[in-house]
Amino acid sequence: MQQSLFIVIEGLDGSGKSTAAQHMIPLLEKELNVRVTLTHEPNRNYCGGNYIRDVLEKKITEFHPRVLPLSFAANRLDHCTRLINPLLAEAGNIVISDRYYLSSLVYQSSEDFPFESVMKLNEKATRPDAIFFLNVSSEVGYARMGTRDQAEELFESRLEEHRKKYLQAIDFLRNTTHDNIVEIDGNGTVEQTVAQMMRVIRQLSVQS
Ligand code: TYD
Repeated sequence: MQQSLFIVIEGLDGSGKSTAAQHMIPLLEKELNVRVTLTHEPNRNYCGGNYIRDVLEKKITEFHPRVLPLSFAANRLDHCTRLINPLLAEAGNIVISDRYYLSSLVYQSSEDFPFESVMKLNEKATRPDAIFFLNVSSEVGYARMGTRDQAEELFESRLEEHRKKYLQAIDFLRNTTHDNIVEIDGNGTVEQTVAQMMRVIRQLSVQS
């Protein structure tokens, strides 16, 4: 593999993004002889990360609706600048981000602030080589969240609405940025989910 790859995993709360990503690391390292860095957004280490976390955990409840899309976009751009881009600049790396700008389209867009406006804020964010949308039924999502035993966060209670928004946002990206978005069936076992993603990454690594 010549070029490094940037892979994003997206999906509803409880879809199993981080579990699938964790399982993929040793498989990718062994099979493709690469160094894999797993990261996530929002990320406390980058611009505005602590503020975002406080809002998600409902420690901060008073905020202007425009503040969240701005904060997530700033967090992302700093994440790109100081972690993702330097890794991609070296050969032999795969960077996997658990959530990226598709999440902003889903959770930060509104009637007042459409997909176009959210993407404008994210126009300098590095484009992924593939975005996996881990699609699970709401039943599976709620069941998986229930096993996590944490207080419910700001966006966790509206899975059906968010799934619809994901599908709309995916359509929007396919028609505008033409990102490579691959839907993955996440209702089965971790192994089945990971196998679907591995197939795509294998193919990308041959092309790069
Ligand atoms: P978190 O607890 O970090 O993890 P998980 O991805 O496993 O749910 O929750 C992240 C929350 O942040 C999630 O509810 C979606 C939200 N979010 C946004 O609203 N916009 C964004 O741009 C991103 C990256 C996340």
